[in-house]
Amino acid sequence: MSDQNNSPVSATAEEVKPYGSAPTGPKRVRTRHFQNAKEQGIPITGLTSYDMLTAQIFDQAGIDFLLVGDSAGNNVFGYETTLPVTVDELIPLTRAVSDAVKRALVVADMPFGSYESGPEEALHTAVRFMKESRAHAVKLEGGRRSRKQIKRIVSAGIPVMAHIGFTPQSEHGLGGHMIQGRGTAAELLIADALAVQKAGAFAVVLEMVPSSVAAEVTARLDIPTIGVGAGPDVDGQLLVWTDFAGMSEGRVPRFVRQYANVRNILTDAVTQFRADVESGAYPAPEHSYE
Ligand code: KIV
Repeated sequence: MSDQNNSPVSATAEEVKPYGSAPTGPKRVRTRHFQNAKEQGIPITGLTSYDMLTAQIFDQAGIDFLLVGDSAGNNVFGYETTLPVTVDELIPLTRAVSDAVKRALVVADMPFGSYESGPEEALHTAVRFMKESRAHAVKLEGGRRSRKQIKRIVSAGIPVMAHIGFTPQSEHGLGGHMIQGRGTAAELLIADALAVQKAGAFAVVLEMVPSSVAAEVTARLDIPTIGVGAGPDVDGQLLVWTDFAGMSEGRVPRFVRQYANVRNILTDAVTQFRADVESGAYPAPEHSYE
């Protein structure tokens, strides 16, 4: 493959994009680049995105994939959990992200209630996302319990990212935000990972699992593992953008490193704007037309 250099994202000279300090890469990240990355030991990067502006920024910064997560339920719609968010709510967000990116692979998250009934329901939802939101792949939660759904979707030519470990759509069944795969449960997690690989998933998200278990899963699988709170020994890392950029209010999970405090920056800006309007300092002559 011509874009197989030192990155899943590495490229031939003519493919290099002129984005500031962004890494070089193929014109489009595709699922085969994920496989290359695993084989070459090159970390894959992913962030959630729910809108055009963040999608552009993350894409231009060279993030390999953008997940339009059902975490939009919390981060866009203000629901307490991800459970209420619907396909109809996620499709327009996903379309905005798909249309904004030039390079990143866009993964549409299939929300709770859109695939559990069986393979045909799952395929129907996946087809809606591919047609109506122009996503490049879909993600769904569950290991062995979702293998038939994954197989059916993949058989229709749609790439599937699986998601095991802590699966937020099952938070009530799991008893809250709990680390998964500890102790004897590690074998079950490995069985889930092998099941989604066998079903045809091109990658699997491991959320909130002990690092040692994530390392073992990563070593046992041929497909890449993407960690969210799974330690360093995985093939890639994914974070929810509102957490990593300090946009969310309140505590973020222990596994999140905050790279900025966008909430404070925006609060300062809006406070200054209000003060300027109230004092008459804005608009100044340079902001006014003759
Ligand atoms: O919806 C989401 O943001 C997710 C990630 C946390 C994996 O599913």
